[in-house]
Amino acid sequence: MQFNAIVDPKARTISQCAVIGIYENGDLGSAAQQVDSHINGRLAALCANGDFAAKLGDTLLLLEIPGAVAERMLLVGLGSRAAFGRKQYRKAVQSAATALAKTGAAEATVYLPLEAAADLDVHYRCRIVAELFCSHAYKIPDMKTPAKPKPPRLTRVQTALADARAPKSATLGLQAGNALGNGMSLARDLANLPPNVCTPRYLASRAQHLAKEWPSISTKIHDEDAIKALKMGAFLAVTQGSEEPPRLIVCEYHGARKASAPICLIGKGITFDSGGISLKDPSGMDEMKFDMSGAAAVLGALRTAAELELPINLVVIIAACENLPSGRAVKPSDIVTTMSGQTVEILNTDAEGRLILCDALTYSRRFKPAAVVDVATLTGACVVALGNQISGLMSNDDALAHELESAGQRADDRAWRMPIGEEYVDQLKSNFADIANVGGREGGACTAASFLSKFAKDLHWAHLDVAGTAWLGGAQKGSTGRPVPLLVDFLIHRARRK
Ligand code: BES
Ligand code: MN
Ligand code: ZN
Repeated sequence: MQFNAIVDPKARTISQCAVIGIYENGDLGSAAQQVDSHINGRLAALCANGDFAAKLGDTLLLLEIPGAVAERMLLVGLGSRAAFGRKQYRKAVQSAATALAKTGAAEATVYLPLEAAADLDVHYRCRIVAELFCSHAYKIPDMKTPAKPKPPRLTRVQTALADARAPKSATLGLQAGNALGNGMSLARDLANLPPNVCTPRYLASRAQHLAKEWPSISTKIHDEDAIKALKMGAFLAVTQGSEEPPRLIVCEYHGARKASAPICLIGKGITFDSGGISLKDPSGMDEMKFDMSGAAAVLGALRTAAELELPINLVVIIAACENLPSGRAVKPSDIVTTMSGQTVEILNTDAEGRLILCDALTYSRRFKPAAVVDVATLTGACVVALGNQISGLMSNDDALAHELESAGQRADDRAWRMPIGEEYVDQLKSNFADIANVGGREGGACTAASFLSKFAKDLHWAHLDVAGTAWLGGAQKGSTGRPVPLLVDFLIHRARRK
């Protein structure tokens, strides 16, 4: 989809559809007022007659109004002007995208960014338009027969602005939203694919493809022998029951000078989590194809960073393998030596995420990172604690935790900080090794993150548990692309910091 910004809303751009916001009680927003003067006050009349209540998210399509700025006008309800803020703005844009998709318009002018929302500057108002229109156009790469690829009709969207001084931030906002949408689509595609297609080798090939597409990215793939040479004993234990070989995927993005310390993003890439010998219950096991959502998200964020040419250095590390039972599989009570040298007693083979991540964390040290953020669908306990709306956030660094919290807030992809510490590490005591990989049901998300913290000493480290947010179940089953928006916002702000 193509996006651009126009500055003068009075300029009668020839558009197939004008998307115009109206507040409740006939309160025409700034765009609607201007438009209405060209069409003899028909919008005001329409509202007065009770034909458009303008409740938040209401839409009404008007066709061929003489004198109108476009052949179609899509009215969008903004609700009460007093309550109009970030959340309401997103809802209005979302409704507009849904309604527009049902029209024949191939291009549209969206006047919604003209409406002031208290906590949204022009950059974010435009960014949200691009992000949501991109997301709306997303189609699951399904395998339904016969295949009928139907590209979305809408291909060009422009936003109108009141402030002639702001076109730069508008254009940048649209670019950011578009690049974010592309990163989210990549993440969603990867996560939505079935696990017999999206294997560790497939993830590696997609990471290599990213390097071909973006000269600023280089990718290195480590196969099982290389992983053995690195002495990643915990990672190897998880993969040992599978026929499908593991991959350690490392992508480097260079957008800043070489000496500038990179941000490391680590993704959990379990392409299918059966639980292993500690086999999961069959109900809902299919959703464990999404257990590589962390890996998908860090690749998505990487793609967005490259598209935006962010002036930062970035290293993406993905530990990718399956977690399956077999005669060769790791058993409860097996003890392994991690790359860090610490030994782990594997009491539950279903707590495999922390095993692959602890070795990835150790590996990240060689890049002398400014910060390390791992992203993982790590625990069901996090879903119990926070539900499907908000991701878990744990960190050994208050400043980094605040940065990620704020990024989540700005990007409408929130994370909530949860505790870690020695109290939880105590639950992980083993009589036979340095640490056990599980610590009982209580505080499961916190013990998992506290396990990881033992491998993140002296790193500026944060962990995002996205078990509840990375995908939707039920009738809407599919990847959400989260937490790509949070990660991208974090990276954009890091880039500005310098
Ligand atoms: N991938 C799962 C976590 C998960 C479960 C995500 C349900 C989303 C929905 C992880 O590998 C796992 O199995 N965790 C166990 C840990 C337990 C054995 C300590 C869990 O949460 O049950
Ligand atoms: Mn598991
Ligand atoms: Zn898992």
